Amino acid sequence: MVLSGIKWVDTDTGTIDRNIFYNDEIYQQELEQIFARSWLFLGHESQIPNPGDFIQNTMGEDPVIVTRGKDGKISAFLNSCRHRGNAVTRANLGNTTSFMCAYHGWTYDLEGNLISIPGYKELYHDDMVVGTRADWGLVEVPRIESFYGLIFANWDKSAPTLREYMGEYAWFLETRANPTGHGSEINGGIYKWTMDHNWKFAADNFVGDGYHAGISHKSATLVGHRGTNIGGGNLQQQQTQQNAQFSRQANPDTFRLATKFGHGAGLNLRPVDAPVSSPEGTSKLMEEYQQFRREESAKVLGANQQRVSGFNAMFPNFSINSSADQIHLWHPRGPLATESWVYVLVDAAAPKQVRDELVLGASRHFGPTGMFEQDDSDNWRLSTTGAKSVIGRRHPLHYAMGLKYNDWMEAKEDLPLRRMGSLGDTNQLNFYRHWQEMMWGKSWEEMQAAGFNPV
Ligand code: FES
Ligand SMILES: [Fe+2]
Repeated sequence: MVLSGIKWVDTDTGTIDRNIFYNDEIYQQELEQIFARSWLFLGHESQIPNPGDFIQNTMGEDPVIVTRGKDGKISAFLNSCRHRGNAVTRANLGNTTSFMCAYHGWTYDLEGNLISIPGYKELYHDDMVVGTRADWGLVEVPRIESFYGLIFANWDKSAPTLREYMGEYAWFLETRANPTGHGSEINGGIYKWTMDHNWKFAADNFVGDGYHAGISHKSATLVGHRGTNIGGGNLQQQQTQQNAQFSRQANPDTFRLATKFGHGAGLNLRPVDAPVSSPEGTSKLMEEYQQFRREESAKVLGANQQRVSGFNAMFPNFSINSSADQIHLWHPRGPLATESWVYVLVDAAAPKQVRDELVLGASRHFGPTGMFEQDDSDNWRLSTTGAKSVIGRRHPLHYAMGLKYNDWMEAKEDLPLRRMGSLGDTNQLNFYRHWQEMMWGKSWEEMQAAGFNPV
């Protein structure tokens, strides 16, 4: 049964029902209606450069293998044998010519075809009985597309193309995925850990919540923590001087962007004359790289686009934190648990030493060793506890900051339609409204035809 028509998210009043953060029935419906129908990040092409390379990821809770075939083509398959359902590989990554299931030995090639069955002649009498071998290959994810090397996939054949789905979010993501025109790469491994919070609190924070930074991260910034900050702003100053952050909201160079399918960002444009500044404790080479990045970005990106940085998220569970170029993925693991994955994305043109410094700086920022990550995730844990509370769940949450305030700025030059100021709850409401439409089972066709009326 699909729970439909229930108004969990009220964009008129700016309130959200806390049931959506703890209820298991709603969670199961999210796996069906959100994660089995949305574009989800699977990895980066640089993780599987050679034929036979593969990585694992999950789409919702479904395990998938992403392979590079003999012809170089990238595909994704459910990591579940068609015989008794066992995983066909237990490795997180590797290089292979085939996947042999370790239960009874059914074997699949890199294109997912079932190529070998032990005892096929003697036991099966050369007969599948039900269909042919071609019918019993690995279940393939039907839609897979890349954006400057970032691989996304979707189980839903009727979904729009990845670019259509991204909309104006692509304008931002390009600045991280292709900052100097040389593409990008994943540097090093992936941090993975599990926290006791609903996945949406993390996405909610990244899609629109700049409001928390001055309070949540104050202790980290007061002790002098300052990570790499390619954006060029003074993060420490922004986060220790809260009132300064609030008063800067009336500046058209600070804005928030919300897109049709629930993505959003709170962004700043670096002043045109801002000097290149290298984070404290980094090398001369880093300073030279920052200069190089500034100059090259100006050649390949739009005049405003090359100056942009800030927080953001792509619906449902992807973000790239532009202060550290870290990709965050929030994998749902039940209504009360999230498995976070963090990757560091680096400009493919960055020298090795710069990459190492960027990774080190990023790891101090986010990931399990990151001071900001610890601040954030513990808040989400307690927000989840609050939603689980019998009394707490009777009371909705307040998401009305800036809701009735008319602060729209029309698209101009290479800037999309946006609202003045990076702080406000409208991005989150836009995210949750799309979440609700997906949950109600609206078709992609319906949602596309409806046009975009941002919150
Ligand atoms: S479960 Fe894979 S071969 Fe039997
Ligand atoms: Fe934060």
